[in-house]
Amino acid sequence: MTQSCYVTTPIYYVNGAPHIGHAYTSIAADAMARFKRLDGYDVLFLTGTDEHGQKVEQAAAAAGVDPQTFTDRISSDFKAMSDAMGVSYDDWIRTTEARHKRSCAELWRRIAANGDFYLGHYEGWYAVRDEAFYDEAELTLRPDGSRVAPSGAAVEWVKEPSYFFRLSAWQQRLLDFYEANPEFIAPRSRRNEVVSFVRGGLLDLSVSRTTFNWGIPVPDAPGHVMYVWLDALQNYVSACGFPDPGAPRWRYWPADVHFVGKDIIRFHAVYWPAFLMAAGLALPKRVSSNGWWLMDGEKMSKSLGNVVEPRKLADIFGLDQLRYFLLREKPFGADGSLSHAAIITRINVDLANDLGNLAQRSLSLVARNCGGVLPARGALTEDDAALLASADALLGVVRGHFDQQTFHDGLEEVWKVVRAANGYIDRQAPWALNRTDKARMGVVLRVLVDTLRVVATLLQPVMPGSMGRMLDQLGVAEDARGFASLGVALTEGQSLPAPQGVFPRYVEPAA
Ligand code: MSP
Repeated sequence: MTQSCYVTTPIYYVNGAPHIGHAYTSIAADAMARFKRLDGYDVLFLTGTDEHGQKVEQAAAAAGVDPQTFTDRISSDFKAMSDAMGVSYDDWIRTTEARHKRSCAELWRRIAANGDFYLGHYEGWYAVRDEAFYDEAELTLRPDGSRVAPSGAAVEWVKEPSYFFRLSAWQQRLLDFYEANPEFIAPRSRRNEVVSFVRGGLLDLSVSRTTFNWGIPVPDAPGHVMYVWLDALQNYVSACGFPDPGAPRWRYWPADVHFVGKDIIRFHAVYWPAFLMAAGLALPKRVSSNGWWLMDGEKMSKSLGNVVEPRKLADIFGLDQLRYFLLREKPFGADGSLSHAAIITRINVDLANDLGNLAQRSLSLVARNCGGVLPARGALTEDDAALLASADALLGVVRGHFDQQTFHDGLEEVWKVVRAANGYIDRQAPWALNRTDKARMGVVLRVLVDTLRVVATLLQPVMPGSMGRMLDQLGVAEDARGFASLGVALTEGQSLPAPQGVFPRYVEPAA
């Protein structure tokens, strides 16, 4: 039976326009989902928008429209951005949909039936920007007497009747779970942070609000809407058809990987497993958190005016070039700096020079000296066999990295082979063999085509469009691009299409 794999992105707040940080998490999740599909898994890849809560309600009011009209508009903009970034989601969930509201109501009932909710009164700090409650001890007092959350968000004093979730009662079970599942939180540094946060003791969590109404009503509790994070997290389960007992998508739960930013790890790695345990549902296998992109070394923010529109970057540099840059430039879990200069270097060195030239040189020799026909392999020298062996080993190595979300290391491994192939072509000089030993030239070019085929096949999840074009030129049929097909030799003697450069050098337009 085909193994299933369920990959999710965070669902995005619809309080403003999408930016590169949103695109990044989605592109990383997309690369993973595409990798798994090519590796033979039955994949469900979910993304969407988080549409309730005070923050969205306030943004709608500021725009002078009702919240539903506002969220319809911004959700479709996020969807258009995701489409423009090549994000191959299977489902786009919106928390204002009926299926999700039904699922949240049932989650609430199950947690209530387990005795984990009680009615009380919340009095404390709340940051609307983070949609999060904070303890006094977590805040920084500023000279003007105001307080800010660790994230820099402003906080306000909230006092209202509220339902509480008995989070404190789950402390030990969470610690036991982390202990038994060391892969649950990635990277390791975040895992340590979460474990020490939970060890420090957990307070019960306020899970309903009564001072506004843009949210999902709490069952049988007029005036209460669910805390937006309880509502939002449940999206992952709603998309699997919960609570219908026979929902075909139930086979995907629990999720294999929740991709999240480092700022929302606590919600996913502490609150979410506690809610699920209380509701008697299985826990996700992994929460993998990404670091932040800084713009020229500075945090992106609307007030600094340095927010980057992903669609603009893709227009300037090309979509696949942007996707490659984002996954190659920094370790997934770490922060990194984005600049035009850094993107241009990646394009010109890695893509145009290392990979693009290699393909163009190899394929134009096949076109010119082999009549455009794929040569046979023939007897292999040690040099040939060494290059092919490194290409053959690549799938296992890259798979290991994608499973750990160490995309930049996986890509570096691919580039080791690309660089080895460049060394090989220079040593073997097939252009010179054309005069001295045509048969040997054929073998060398075939070794290069076979190596490029592995490289292009494994890079499809990151650069689907360009690698599709490269595979066309290498004579790889569309139905032979999955990883299992790597074991089946290409048909020698087939005509290859005329080669065309896949990665042009980026030249700065004249001012
Ligand atoms: N709505 C919540 C998520 C709910 S999931 C059940 C949310 N939304 S968000 O729109 O504010 O952020 C979505 C994701 O974008 C987060 O994972 C966040 O880390 C990521 N990014 C936002 N800015 C970013 C950068 N500058 N760099 C990288 N990612 C960042 O949180």
